Amino acid sequence: MVEGERTGDLAPAWRESADVEGADQLRDGQEVRVRRMTAEDRERIAEFLSRLTDASLSVRFFTPLPRSTALATLMEEIDSPLCLALLLLVRHDGDEQVIAHAEYVRDGPTARAAEVAFLVTDAFQGHGCATVLLHHLAVAGRRAGIREFHGSVLMENDRMLEVFRGCGYPLEEWWGPDAVQLTLSIDKPPGTDAPSVAPQ
Ligand SMILES: CC(C)(COP(=O)(O)OP(=O)(O)OC[C@H]1O[C@@H](n2cnc3c(N)ncnc32)[C@H](O)[C@@H]1OP(=O)(O)O)[C@@H](O)C(=O)NCCC(=O)NCCS
Repeated sequence: MVEGERTGDLAPAWRESADVEGADQLRDGQEVRVRRMTAEDRERIAEFLSRLTDASLSVRFFTPLPRSTALATLMEEIDSPLCLALLLLVRHDGDEQVIAHAEYVRDGPTARAAEVAFLVTDAFQGHGCATVLLHHLAVAGRRAGIREFHGSVLMENDRMLEVFRGCGYPLEEWWGPDAVQLTLSIDKPPGTDAPSVAPQ
């Protein structure tokens, strides 16, 4: 990210040319790094999952499940050419620690839509991690020909609903008995039709 710019204040032109991977900032200015998850990340992801509460894990996977199963699921998904998983990392004890994971899984090899899901360590929830990752996923998705992200969110998951509602992409919501189905149109970077916002 260009020095001095904050995620929420970015001009649309920046978003279009943004890198899928690289440095970014949380809402409070904390520096983070975004990169693709690879098969080499097994240990880091196991450590990340160990720092999550059972409640957060259950909400992400829609069912309570052991961390070993969550690890196997996340590792298995990146083997698929339909999946792109991104990690958000911070400096920690001279190393880097994963604080959030986000992925899209394309509906099919040439599909224009993909399902997105997010998981943020409890200590970092509410700091803007999911929002940062959503924008990076959208840049990657657009370049891959994806035009729409969809997700299924438990109706009591206000935080996730707010991420979708506040990200700036056109949104549609369908309320079911237990979950909300959301579709984001990621065709263009947010604010493309609006007057450009000067970087801070
Ligand atoms: C849901 C989750 C992914 C959101 O990630 P996050 O990094 O905490 O989200 P952000 O900080 O980017 O955004 C949180 C939004 O909720 C709002 N928010 C924060 N606390 C809130 C609360 N208690 N109630 C309602 N909204 C709240 C924030 O203002 C923000 O909205 P904004 O972007 O319009 O300002 C994260 O909390 C998480 O991992 N939860 C457990 C797993 C999960 O629910 N995964 C999603 C299933 S797809």
